[in-house]
Amino acid sequence: MALLTIRTYPDEILKKQCEEVLHVGDDERRLIDDMFETMVQNQGVGLAAPQVGVLKNIIVAAPEGPDKELYAFINPVITKKKGEFVDIEGCLSVPCSSAEVTRARKVWVEALDKKGKRITITVSDLFARIIQHEGDHLKGILFIDYLGFQARKEIIDCARKVKKL
Ligand code: NI
Repeated sequence: MALLTIRTYPDEILKKQCEEVLHVGDDERRLIDDMFETMVQNQGVGLAAPQVGVLKNIIVAAPEGPDKELYAFINPVITKKKGEFVDIEGCLSVPCSSAEVTRARKVWVEALDKKGKRITITVSDLFARIIQHEGDHLKGILFIDYLGFQARKEIIDCARKVKKL
């Protein structure tokens, strides 16, 4: 396994649309293992492939914390959402940031697992939030895109400052 470099805002790759994975092979499994390691090392609860510079539809999640069970989803699609809730959200690609974001409370997800097997999963609360946040990364959307002008500006200014140091 290898620790990967996390791309941070305003890296252009974070705004790009990812591609569907047509075949789940050794390259994808290696990437997932490296993403697990990178997420855990950075105390993250989720990570998307573009955050490590790969434009593939792959996300990983650690809903109970980085030392508990880790999940990988390939080509994840949210097929249904229910309810909503507000909570503080942050992102490893947007340093020094956190803000309140409204997300669906419960989501139904279809994806492929590490073996290329089709899976469906229904999750709620933090796990649902992680999947929505990481799923957004695959479409080039960051959580700061949901914020008002002033909140967004403060986070962007801070992220740029951190990057220059
Ligand atoms: Ni993120």
